[in-house]
Amino acid sequence: MTDSLTLNNGVLMPAIGLGVYQTPPAETVTAVQTALEVGYRHVDTAAAYLNEREVGEGIRRSGVAREDVFIETKVWITDYGYDQTLHAFEKSAKKLGVDQIDLLILHQAYPAIFDKTIEAYKGLERLLADGAVRAIGVSNFGPNHLDRLLNETSVVPAVNQIELHPYNTRAEERAANAVRGILTQAWSPIGGVRHYNGDEKSPLTDPTVQTIADRYGKSTAQVMLRWHVQEGRSAIPKSVHRERIIENLDVFDFALNDDELRQIDGLHIGGTVDTDTLDFGSFGIEIDEA
Ligand SMILES: NC(=O)c1ccc[n+]([C@@H]2O[C@H](COP(=O)([O-])OP(=O)(O)OC[C@H]3O[C@@H](n4cnc5c(N)ncnc54)[C@H](OP(=O)(O)O)[C@@H]3O)[C@@H](O)[C@H]2O)c1
Repeated sequence: MTDSLTLNNGVLMPAIGLGVYQTPPAETVTAVQTALEVGYRHVDTAAAYLNEREVGEGIRRSGVAREDVFIETKVWITDYGYDQTLHAFEKSAKKLGVDQIDLLILHQAYPAIFDKTIEAYKGLERLLADGAVRAIGVSNFGPNHLDRLLNETSVVPAVNQIELHPYNTRAEERAANAVRGILTQAWSPIGGVRHYNGDEKSPLTDPTVQTIADRYGKSTAQVMLRWHVQEGRSAIPKSVHRERIIENLDVFDFALNDDELRQIDGLHIGGTVDTDTLDFGSFGIEIDEA
């Protein structure tokens, strides 16, 4: 089982959830069902992942009661705007097969037309007030985005989901989230495979992480997930493999010491994403009706 974190509105969220970005729809049902059967109680999806239907199906097939699963999903930027975001909730809820979503977040800021991002967030505030969602938040927001949002809206986001792993530790953004009462949630928490200075490297094969892992008889993925949890973050590792899904939750029977936490913090190389300036664009993704 997993530890829980308390969001800024008192709602509890399991610290570790299953991510399903790039999990093909055909594999999503099994991945989600497996995760819930082995103890996960949190799934992170997004309208733009085009697998919300299969996430809902996996939850139903698992036999775990709906109220025991924390469902997080994201509004895509082609649905930004006040009314559009209310409709985006309807579409996601219908695909997931639920009446209420636990955490609904904006997938990213839309810097070119930030007003639309603000309107979308006001839509989330309406959904929160109506009880359609239990918590609201953002993803890929830099400190400047957060300040603009906080100036123009009322509800402090519960979560800011950002890329965060040992090669991109996001110290500034973590501090910016914390000072505003926003929980940091790590995407790509075990690093995936990224390009750094032209090299393809992954913290999964980092020698420092491996040395620590060997000390505890754990894998590098487990050490990284333990590092997130001990530093108070949520993490949403993705896998389609049963043994890895199990492994990624099995991080509650050991503890890293302060020196080991600092060693992992020190592996930072640099960002692959500058959240305050980058306009991600829509990648041509349009969200269909349920
Ligand atoms: N908000 C955003 O913009 C955003 C962006 C990206 C991701 N996310 C969220 O964050 C989640 C995780 O991010 P991610 O998928 O990019 O990266 P990740 O979880 O850090 O890494 C996933 C990769 O690692 C492999 N893997 C998983 N467990 C492993 C283990 N124990 N040992 C070795 N390899 C392992 C997976 O392969 P297999 O599946 O083959 O096991 C996959 O290739 C996504 O699924 C999504 O929910 C959000």
